[in-house]
Amino acid sequence: MSLALAPAPVLSTILDAIGHTPLVRLRLPGVPDRVELWGKCEWLNPGGSVKDRTALSIVEDGERSGALVKGRTIIDSSSGNTAVGLALVGGAKGHPVELVMPRSVGAERQRLCRAYGAKILFTDPLAGSDGAILEVRARVAADPGRYFYAEQYRNPANVLAHYRTTGPEIWEQTAGRVTHFVAGLGTSGTVVGVSRSLRERNPHVRVVAVEPDHALHGLEGLKHMASAIVPEIYDPCAHDEKLSVVTEDAYAVCDEVLRADGLLVGHSAGAALWAAREVARTLRSGVVVALLPDGGERYLAAAPEPRR
Ligand SMILES: Cc1ncc(COP(=O)(O)O)c(C=O)c1O
Repeated sequence: MSLALAPAPVLSTILDAIGHTPLVRLRLPGVPDRVELWGKCEWLNPGGSVKDRTALSIVEDGERSGALVKGRTIIDSSSGNTAVGLALVGGAKGHPVELVMPRSVGAERQRLCRAYGAKILFTDPLAGSDGAILEVRARVAADPGRYFYAEQYRNPANVLAHYRTTGPEIWEQTAGRVTHFVAGLGTSGTVVGVSRSLRERNPHVRVVAVEPDHALHGLEGLKHMASAIVPEIYDPCAHDEKLSVVTEDAYAVCDEVLRADGLLVGHSAGAALWAAREVARTLRSGVVVALLPDGGERYLAAAPEPRR
């Protein structure tokens, strides 16, 4: 127990608590002893997900470039986590925030965004995240002077968030021993940014992207690229391999990692862990890092009882 040893940070703003998330060694069953599996615990960001990094990077980039001046409203489409991140960052910096999301997004997340002071606009759930993107584009086109469009799907600041923070953190936390990085594809910001950062340090690091096996899936935050609007920031060269995960398999791994390691993770983290274990099984040795975007608390209301 190292409770007394770790110095607690003293911060001038909650935004300084974004990033620097723990990397935790996992004992998920089925991972060969010769392979180390590690999870990057992104739900420990203050807004509860990896998307705090993206939101902070995009907002500060907008402020620097002059695109986000006081009085403009930050707008974006989001499956929920970027929404919370933007609501948190916008709130802390005094920018109004409007979020467009499919009505199917979990009630907890809608409440969270409203609690941070953001306004929510709903789109047809059957149109998925693409429907929300099209709605934001229409609103911004109708009144461009009113908005700062965060555009997480095409904003290079999304990729840069991970290039500048997530990737270097993983490198330092593994003391440069990381051999494989595994993460889900949503906007693709995480995979592309971390990949560029790690490959710069070691071109032999293998990057594995994970996506749902078909268009109609239950993995919030992830995209099935073949049937979706492909994000402009997506770079297919950023990953060496892409694995398709079945929704139920990802859910099952969430149960397994809770029992084995005490981590309550979200479904896209389950997808990354499922893929990380598939990769681990093929290795003689290795240090595999899976990115765990958010925690399972956000999905409890919709989740079936865990199998025990
Ligand atoms: C829960 C969850 N997992 C995974 C992702 C994918 O991350 P990225 O957009 O960086 O590809 C997202 C993105 O919104 C997410 O919300």
